[in-house]
Amino acid sequence: MDKLRAIVTGIHGYVPEYRLTNKELESLVDTNDEWIMSRTGIKERRILKGENQGTSVLGIEAVKGLLEKTGTDPMDVELIICATVTPDMPFPATANIIADKVGAKNSFSFDIGAACSGFLYALQLGAQFIQAGTHKKIVVVGADKMSSIVDYQDRTTCILFGDGAGAVLLEPTTENLGIIDAILKADGSGENFLHMKAGGSRKPATLETVANREHFAYQEGTSVFKFAVTNMADVSAEVMERNGLTGDDIAWLVPHQANKRIIDATANRMGVGPEKVMMNIERYGNTTAATIPLCLWEYESQLKKGDNLILAAFGGGFTWGAIYMKWALDPK
Ligand code: UT7
Repeated sequence: MDKLRAIVTGIHGYVPEYRLTNKELESLVDTNDEWIMSRTGIKERRILKGENQGTSVLGIEAVKGLLEKTGTDPMDVELIICATVTPDMPFPATANIIADKVGAKNSFSFDIGAACSGFLYALQLGAQFIQAGTHKKIVVVGADKMSSIVDYQDRTTCILFGDGAGAVLLEPTTENLGIIDAILKADGSGENFLHMKAGGSRKPATLETVANREHFAYQEGTSVFKFAVTNMADVSAEVMERNGLTGDDIAWLVPHQANKRIIDATANRMGVGPEKVMMNIERYGNTTAATIPLCLWEYESQLKKGDNLILAAFGGGFTWGAIYMKWALDPK
């Protein structure tokens, strides 16, 4: 039998309406637009407002739009994987909630928590089910409501993050297209630099943990920056090298949107010019598991069948990785 590969046959994204601008942040913490733009490249982020609005709300919008756009009957979806670090609740999985609300009643579903690399982890996992020949329609969604775990009194983190979701449909092909190669990595010693101190089984919520503001994302930015620059660039170069690719062969770098300076360093190392780098960090900030599918969604009309894409990410865990994908669709 011909080798099966997983191709992306549809992509859709969703960001909430509310725009949190650098100007507004200036009224919350001691910061300014010039500092934020020059250090990160972020101008504004989208925030999901309202009571009882969890990450699933973002994921449902992205997946519903995806199914409509691709003309997919929700009952034909066999698996939904949701990458998120801000699940609606510790359990059940946010993927279960999304599956229910979009009518994917025949699907099994689960979450993956690999922070900013979550979408890459989930995409590779989904691709494996397709390549094994056991599943034919899989939805991979990256969704995070980062505003639910951001401390708007901490100027070192609150400027970075936003809310959003992006989803892809994976289906099989026997053509030499789709997900060709992936390198995924993790180093648990990174927990010291990027984590949430309380609310898990090690330190359950108490009045004290709440008073100490321990239920927010904690980051030692400069250390994370150094790890991110090195590892995201290294792994991208590694996946190119082992597939015999040079910068000229790459149509697009699709990087996790954490910091424009990290993206520039990665592109530089790969020998890829800025015109081939997908970037929307200025408008959305870091949406964690959603950055990569949101980029693909926004650049979809510029993608051509056969384009070589390198998807690259680095995030909490530490986790990082790069995926080499040949785009399978021509623009509509
Ligand atoms: O996606 C998950 C992985 N996360 C990342 O990849 C994030 C990686 N880290 C970063 O992107 C950067 O480290 C940050 C953007 C978070 C910070 O940039 P930096 O160039 O590393 O700045 P810094 O933390 O070294 O701070 C430089 C100065 C400090 O002041 P002093 O000590 O030099 O007087 C900070 O207190 O900037 C100050 N500062 C700010 N000033 C204005 C820190 N945050 C702010 C702020 N506004 N929001």
